[in-house]
Amino acid sequence: MSSSTAPMRIYLDHAATTPPSRAAVAAMQQALEECWGNPSSIHADGQHARMILDGARDTLAAFTGTGARNVVFTASGTEADNLALTGILGRWGSSRGQHIVVSSIEHEAVLSTAEALADSGAAEVTMVHPDHDGVIQPSAVAQALRPDTVLVSIMYVNNETGVIQDIPAIARTVHAARAETFVHTDAVQGAGYLPCDMESLGVDLLSLSSHKLYGPKGAGCLVLRDGVFVAPVIHGGGQERNRRSGTEAIPAIAGFAAAVRELVEHRSAWCMEMESLRTMLTSEVRKELPGTIIPGERAQRVPSCASFVFPGIRNELLLTRLDAAGISASGGSACSAGTTLPSHVLTAMGFSDEDARGLLRCTLGHATTREDARAAAAAIVDAVRALSTSIADA
Ligand SMILES: Cc1ncc(COP(=O)(O)O)c(C=O)c1O
Repeated sequence: MSSSTAPMRIYLDHAATTPPSRAAVAAMQQALEECWGNPSSIHADGQHARMILDGARDTLAAFTGTGARNVVFTASGTEADNLALTGILGRWGSSRGQHIVVSSIEHEAVLSTAEALADSGAAEVTMVHPDHDGVIQPSAVAQALRPDTVLVSIMYVNNETGVIQDIPAIARTVHAARAETFVHTDAVQGAGYLPCDMESLGVDLLSLSSHKLYGPKGAGCLVLRDGVFVAPVIHGGGQERNRRSGTEAIPAIAGFAAAVRELVEHRSAWCMEMESLRTMLTSEVRKELPGTIIPGERAQRVPSCASFVFPGIRNELLLTRLDAAGISASGGSACSAGTTLPSHVLTAMGFSDEDARGLLRCTLGHATTREDARAAAAAIVDAVRALSTSIADA
């Protein structure tokens, strides 16, 4: 028998995914073992599953301040975003117009959907850019509106910088200019830290993802304001009031709802602690590496996100060193064939391609400790120094 124990790792990639909470795992297990019926079946086994589904729908409706009938369960945040854009265009495009407005810092789930709609001729897309702080100004959105704008989609919180958008101001601006234009927000990275009440946000559609808030993968939802209809993207048996066919994934949905209930109870305490750890992490890095840039530093940001740019340092090398030191973090950019692409978010904010290749994103969770933050800061400083020396020697 080996006497070695696995080395401790520090997980700072909660924006990529969060570990499922105990409550989520317990709810999933119960659903798998006891509620495996098909929620559309009329017999008792089906109705047992239906009860779980209805309870989860009530939880998500309360979380977003809307009615249960307005919650459409999907398999992911990506699917919810696809349904928002494609579904609004499919249902309203011919009557209200085919022009949509998105920001250039959206997640690919929105950007690629908008691009696909444009490529197929179903939509004309206008892109709105952020300022240097990563903020989308309501006035920039207003300028992009046209008489045929059917939808504006602006994310609540950016996944690379943690910058919070003023969604209520954006929604007010859009609705004041054109009452028939729908406003969608991708709240996937916001829900873990900020209220998601549809009324207060002023939005017509909102996307969520379970695995970003301590639920399992395989569940998400699109929430609609009363009276907002979307054409289905997935056709079939007419589940989810004919907005998303396919037998609902009861275990994943049960876990999603359990995680949300826990989040609602603890969110403010978790956020306070994360804010103090984020401050510690960033100030320790800054103290040792004064050239460090924190993208979006002057903007409002969620407390979990500590993103850094170290000019001249390529993030793939930094991430490899951090991984070897037991730290899981990420660069904000997509990787293909070993080449790191510059972050589209940072380039949209006005960073050079070179700097945009150097993004290091550390995202904290509620279980992150002071020791984790301190050890991560030391490891980042060591890794950046080592890489700077090797560049200087080269
Ligand atoms: C802002 C944002 N939207 C959408 C998604 C996609 O969510 P999912 O992984 O559930 O498809 C992500 C995932 O990283 C995200 O950060």
